[in-house]
Amino acid sequence: MISAVDVIRAKRDRERLTDEQIDWVVAAYTRGDVADEQMAALAMAILLNGMDPGEVARWTAAMIDSGERLALPDVGRPLVDKHSTGGVGDKITLPLAPLVAACGAAVPQLSGRGLGHTGGTLDKLESIPGWRAELSLDEIAAQLADVGAVICATTPTLAPADRKLYALRDVTGTVESIPLIASSIMSKKIAEGTDGLVLDVKSGSGAFMKTAEQARELAAAMVDIGTAHGLRTTAVLTDMSVPLGRAVGNALEVAESVEVLRGGGPPDVVTLTVVLAEEMLALAGIDADPAKVLASGAAYPVWEAMIAAQGGDPSAPLPVATHVEELRAERAGMIGRCDALAVGLAAWRLGAGRARKEHAVQAAAGVRLLVGLGDTVEAGQPLLELHTDTPDAVPGALAALDGGVVVVDGPAPWRPALIGDTLRP
Ligand code: URA
Repeated sequence: MISAVDVIRAKRDRERLTDEQIDWVVAAYTRGDVADEQMAALAMAILLNGMDPGEVARWTAAMIDSGERLALPDVGRPLVDKHSTGGVGDKITLPLAPLVAACGAAVPQLSGRGLGHTGGTLDKLESIPGWRAELSLDEIAAQLADVGAVICATTPTLAPADRKLYALRDVTGTVESIPLIASSIMSKKIAEGTDGLVLDVKSGSGAFMKTAEQARELAAAMVDIGTAHGLRTTAVLTDMSVPLGRAVGNALEVAESVEVLRGGGPPDVVTLTVVLAEEMLALAGIDADPAKVLASGAAYPVWEAMIAAQGGDPSAPLPVATHVEELRAERAGMIGRCDALAVGLAAWRLGAGRARKEHAVQAAAGVRLLVGLGDTVEAGQPLLELHTDTPDAVPGALAALDGGVVVVDGPAPWRPALIGDTLRP
């Protein structure tokens, strides 16, 4: 007979959990037979003492088995998905899904809402008038067959153990555990039933993983889980020390994504979109040139169809903030620091993000960067715009930016967008 206290004691004492203990504790927690305080203690013991690859694979399997796998019918194209560990200005899913669909694959992107300083993909798309996140399984399948791309809310029956455990980790200081993050992400992706998965694993101030070494460890753990479950998984290691692109905030990021889909947009967003598309198409076995397709604007009609299929009006004007304020350079020089966390926190305080699950976000709030790292600026030149419907949020946003966007004399430090090797199956 297994008890929660025995499982907690085992991990506290650095023992390896048995398959039976893992299966039991995840199922019993999902049913409500293991209390939140017991699971919190176990999560903390896992955070402190870790799990070996066999334990992580079993933990992931138990989380998948806590719910149903999404039984997607054959949609006539290979299914391939991507997941990002999250970052500031990370809107890549928005141009990427239509681009990969335009190249011939089908992309089932089941996404979440944002919590904390990184935005959620659904929050971004919900700034488009009429767009609907909740779809039935039939609607998802029909859209994949017709359009080739769907970005929608995850279904409640997909890995319910993770839903419960993630909410608990969020309030008990146990999010930053590599085995728990890896099993959380991979349980949802494996249950979704994609044929291939590309992971964008970020490191830097604006990411969960602060160092490239931690990101590599997380990437390797996720590729191992994917392989153990027969899911072809590739991981790309990318930088999140500066924001991605120039727009941070829901409607602002949609507008920037549309620029990219029309063949323009900031070079870092274009590059990362193309790199991830190349990896996804390689997994899907499709020989196409996504850089060419993106530059030609041929992915834009797929975006229009994807938004319209979910009730959105792709040509409707996006919400605009009632209050826009500029931050100007105090001196001439070069942008020597443009810190992702500082900009993410500022956007969050302006109303782009939420502090608690039940809070609403402002569609139009956020930060628009007018300059980037290494740009030369004059004294008094506008560096960025703060957008909000609640002007009393501006002082908090400015406080977050203090020391985060800095003009210096000398050359700016440089970190490439892609860091380290890509991990392939
Ligand atoms: N995203 C997830 O889905 N799970 C985690 O644990 C962390 C980030």
